[in-house]
Amino acid sequence: MPDAGTYDIGMVGLGVMGRNLLLNIADHGFSGVGLDTDEAKVTALAVEGRGKPLLGVRTPEELATALKKPRAVMLLVPAGRPVDAVIDELTPLFEPGDLIIDAGNSHFIDTDRRVSALTRKGLHFVGMGVSGGEYGARHGPSMMPGGDRDAYERIRPILESIAARAGDVICVDYMGPGSAGHYVKMVHNGIEYGLIQMIAESYDILSRGLGLSDDELATIYQQWNAGPIAGFLIEITSEIFQKVDEVTGGRLVDHILDEAKQRGTGKWTAQSALDLQVPSPTIDAAVSLRDMSGLKSERENASKILSGPAVGQGGHEWVGRLENALQACMVATLAQGMCLLQAASKAYGYELRMESIARIWQGGCIIRAAMLTDVEAAFVRRPDLVNLMLDPAFSRRLQENIPDLRSVIAFAIERGLPVAAHSASLAYYDSYRSGWLPANLIQAQRDYFGSHTYERIDAKGPVHTDWSAGA
Ligand code: 6PG
Repeated sequence: MPDAGTYDIGMVGLGVMGRNLLLNIADHGFSGVGLDTDEAKVTALAVEGRGKPLLGVRTPEELATALKKPRAVMLLVPAGRPVDAVIDELTPLFEPGDLIIDAGNSHFIDTDRRVSALTRKGLHFVGMGVSGGEYGARHGPSMMPGGDRDAYERIRPILESIAARAGDVICVDYMGPGSAGHYVKMVHNGIEYGLIQMIAESYDILSRGLGLSDDELATIYQQWNAGPIAGFLIEITSEIFQKVDEVTGGRLVDHILDEAKQRGTGKWTAQSALDLQVPSPTIDAAVSLRDMSGLKSERENASKILSGPAVGQGGHEWVGRLENALQACMVATLAQGMCLLQAASKAYGYELRMESIARIWQGGCIIRAAMLTDVEAAFVRRPDLVNLMLDPAFSRRLQENIPDLRSVIAFAIERGLPVAAHSASLAYYDSYRSGWLPANLIQAQRDYFGSHTYERIDAKGPVHTDWSAGA
């Protein structure tokens, strides 16, 4: 083995993400060993990494030998069993003090299990969320490492050198112990689901509701990307509407099947929010609408049976209202995500610093947006802010934009255009600002049919009433 014990870091999994992260690491002066059982991927690393301090290997033994001690190896393999399989292969070859970093989208419960198992063996484990896709991996991702703090400090120079920059901000920071990093990444993706769904709904209104062309849509999203809702997802939306289909010469977006796939992180976010009893209606709606999109043949059949109002078009004045509505929805979605993070921090002892999360999301990641600077400022002002919507700057934004969210939803509903994420965001706002909700009736019903008891406004403790025994 040439160069035994000299490489700074290893990478297991040389798919798009792993390979590009390794190339990024090498660009910053660190040497790396990449392991993949697929010869073609090892060759791709050799070709793309020519002249860089990189080595491609095919076996865990070669990887373990090539690395400097204590070893540090990053895994970028599909979540679930593949992560356990790689860990099982590496651990017999590793020694106490060595470090494994799981940089995939692993479920946080799996990460907790792995942290415990590896700690018992004297190994360190860091669960790290990485966001930014292929481009981010190559040129600067946002990274959310969690787990063993000392282990993080060891790889910190590498992570800080490859991370995205957003002005002065270096988009990586230690999130907290255990599965904190993967939890934060999961919620990032939940927010991503919410934003993607609400942008899709705005597209539907602009397209079916206002009858605008793809060119007009491209211009509108481009303009929106210079305003308060500016961000990566708005930017790419504008570009998508300009992309020409090589097959037909039309716009590519119009030839893409309306059936969106999902890998599970949005669903996990909604599931975790339900477990922690944190309302996350926009994220829940986004997951449900992905599921609805998957019912393509059922929807096509239903479209012949179930009727709705005529779509009838609105005028250009709706464009500005839609932008404002999106702004209100973005605030509501970020508020849900941040509340979930705060609840998880308490429940799982993550000790999350909300302002740090908002900071590292300002560059490199999929949800990066101008608004995140203000989210950071809100949590700097009040680290224990209970809900982002209560921050004075955000409550002002909501006050200004909620009227347009209401009219956009009414516009869509009257035309039978589904706006689940917009509606859920408004319901979140309206229920949260409501000092009274009709849950007294829910209490009464539960007691009526199940003797579940209820509580009175004017007394403490559970009460049961025999509801059928006359007035
Ligand atoms: C990111 C993305 C990335 C991935 C999503 C897609 O932050 O870079 O979130 O992790 O693209 O997992 O998720 P779905 O396939 O579930 O839409």
